[in-house]
Amino acid sequence: MNLNVHVLLLLVLSSAHPSLLKEYDEDEDCLISYKRGVSAYLENNFDECVTKLEDGLKKYSNYTQALQSCRIKCKEDAELADPLYAIDLENMHFYEKAIRNTLCLMRCRKNNMVLATSTSVTPETDQIYQDAKPYEYLHLCYYQKKEYQKAASSAFTYLVPHPKDELMRKSLQFYSTLSEVDTSSIVNYEAKDHVYLYAHGLDAYDKKDWKSVENNMEESLIAYLQAEENCRALCEGPFNQGWFPDLVPSIANHYTFSLKCKRKCPLKLNNLNGQYHEDLLPSHYHYLQYVYFKNNNLKSACQAAASYVLFYPNDDTMRSNIEYYKKLPKVESSFFIPRPEAAQYVRRLTYEKRLLHFIDTEYKFKDEGEGSQAEVLTLKNYNPNFDLFMNDEDLNGTKRFVADGLFTQHECNTLLNLAKKYALKGDGYKGVASPHTSMETFEGITIGRTALLLHFGRIKSKQLYLYLKSTDYAKKFLEEYFDIKRTLYFTYTHLVCRTPIVEAPINRTDFSHAIHADNCNILHNGVCLKTPPAFTWRDYSAIIYLNNNFEGGELTFSQDMFGKTIQSNVKPKCGRMVAFSSGFENLHGVKPVKSGTRCAIALWFTFNQKYEEKSRNIAYKLIY
Ligand SMILES: *[C@@H]1O[C@H](CO)[C@@H](O)[C@H](O)[C@H]1NC(C)=O
Ligand SMILES: *[C@@H]1O[C@H](CO)[C@@H](O)[C@H](O)[C@H]1NC(C)=O
Ligand SMILES: *[C@@H]1O[C@H](CO)[C@@H](O)[C@H](O)[C@H]1NC(C)=O
Repeated sequence: MNLNVHVLLLLVLSSAHPSLLKEYDEDEDCLISYKRGVSAYLENNFDECVTKLEDGLKKYSNYTQALQSCRIKCKEDAELADPLYAIDLENMHFYEKAIRNTLCLMRCRKNNMVLATSTSVTPETDQIYQDAKPYEYLHLCYYQKKEYQKAASSAFTYLVPHPKDELMRKSLQFYSTLSEVDTSSIVNYEAKDHVYLYAHGLDAYDKKDWKSVENNMEESLIAYLQAEENCRALCEGPFNQGWFPDLVPSIANHYTFSLKCKRKCPLKLNNLNGQYHEDLLPSHYHYLQYVYFKNNNLKSACQAAASYVLFYPNDDTMRSNIEYYKKLPKVESSFFIPRPEAAQYVRRLTYEKRLLHFIDTEYKFKDEGEGSQAEVLTLKNYNPNFDLFMNDEDLNGTKRFVADGLFTQHECNTLLNLAKKYALKGDGYKGVASPHTSMETFEGITIGRTALLLHFGRIKSKQLYLYLKSTDYAKKFLEEYFDIKRTLYFTYTHLVCRTPIVEAPINRTDFSHAIHADNCNILHNGVCLKTPPAFTWRDYSAIIYLNNNFEGGELTFSQDMFGKTIQSNVKPKCGRMVAFSSGFENLHGVKPVKSGTRCAIALWFTFNQKYEEKSRNIAYKLIY
């Protein structure tokens, strides 16, 4: 069992499929507000942009606060309850607590106004809000509305978690030069309480106002620990395991996922308005030992010093402070007991770090045995007879081609079987079964999940190998054809099948996938803007077809976004690949699939390493 790889893979493959961003998930309030806000921005409707984005931020904050308080309260209640049987047999106390906790969570959700009336926030939406994404647009919309102070604060709020964002830095600099903006009042809208309290503490320290340092630092400490508990509570959300593990691995996987999330909380909390302070929490004890000493509270000074050395046992300064305190006449040895919250914190930290270290070192991938090795060796025979079939001119456009021969029929069948057995409805579209047209169901399987299936012995390495090798080969051919000299990266690989629903009329006129460009947003005036939420990093696209035993489903290149002036059509067949540059010059769509199931591998490539498809590397590790 290789937990680490599972978790890694799952983290990779649980990322949303990019094309989803154009779709509205009607079930999710926070996501809808965000998307409506962004759309309004793209359409220059700045009032609507501000209303929607502000609304989304408020809803998200309401929602997370409610969720945090339920999770924290229910955990406490479950801890306090007397077990149904006094002796802890087979860890049953653990499970009983989990059961009590669950019951409490269900009631809490039902009784909480916010939770009862809103739909669950998905991990993808969490990511948007945790990354402060709404502020990326909000500052622009405030600016357009001449609300300059808010524009500046929004830009600043976005910069705190993204301090290296050059564009946003320039925006903030620009706002700061406006006469309407008071630079001393620019705030981080997402700052937690400890950020202010700590800053006040430091101010007071500079002014040698020891009583105020004491108060602010004590309050900041409480606020920090509370914020960390809240952050950790948000880490106890759902986790898509992607397959059906046994009881124990299922608990272990989910717990590991949650633990990794929790260990990231200090990274967020230690960011004081863009500056990262690794030792933020322990530094409270450092200041406190000093001010308690100044305020003649020796016992508290000693306790704070003893607390500090729990975090940094070899800190010379604090060690010598302790030696100094020990020699003072009124000091007793009992003064050097660390504060309980510090002791508790460090114990948990130590255990969690040890556990993660154990996971990282022990869950190394080992070969699956000789059988699969032997199979990989014979697979090296994959050696396609690839041939150019149509060029730009044949296709009545630019930067596009069609080539044949990437797969033999046998190889197509291998991949079709993989899709038939394991493709999931709405894969990459958060389970939305019909993301492009209500007349068809859409099923898909990524490289990452294929690798997981191999890892669990559900499929043969041959299938993963073929999936990886053929797409590598396609990339190589594309690079040669377009004479690409820079490094091109895979950004997303998706084996997908489209099937008309039973009720779909044979004379339907919708598209299987409407005319679109892969890396820009077509606006109503026909302009294609290369800005978010489009996948602006996509540079080339390709599709490799696996079958032709269906009706319809031709790929269409069009001159306009309505499909009025069709330039060319490509009929799918096993082993045929069509490739093109991802911009406005290659508007394309898919004609409706009238009967049967159309399967193909969709590929997107980028020059931007940041968007590289990480699961490929993991998949290769699993094969060899
Ligand atoms: C957030 O919660 C407050 C108080 O519970 C409520 O008045 C407000 O309408 C909520 N805001 C949104 C956007 O849901
Ligand atoms: C499709 O055919 C049905 C019944 O034959 C008809 O009622 C409907 O109007 C047709 N739809 C289109 C788009 O032609
Ligand atoms: C390109 O355009 C010509 C003329 O309109 C047409 O006959 C041909 O079928 C088009 N090519 C493709 C591949 O559709």
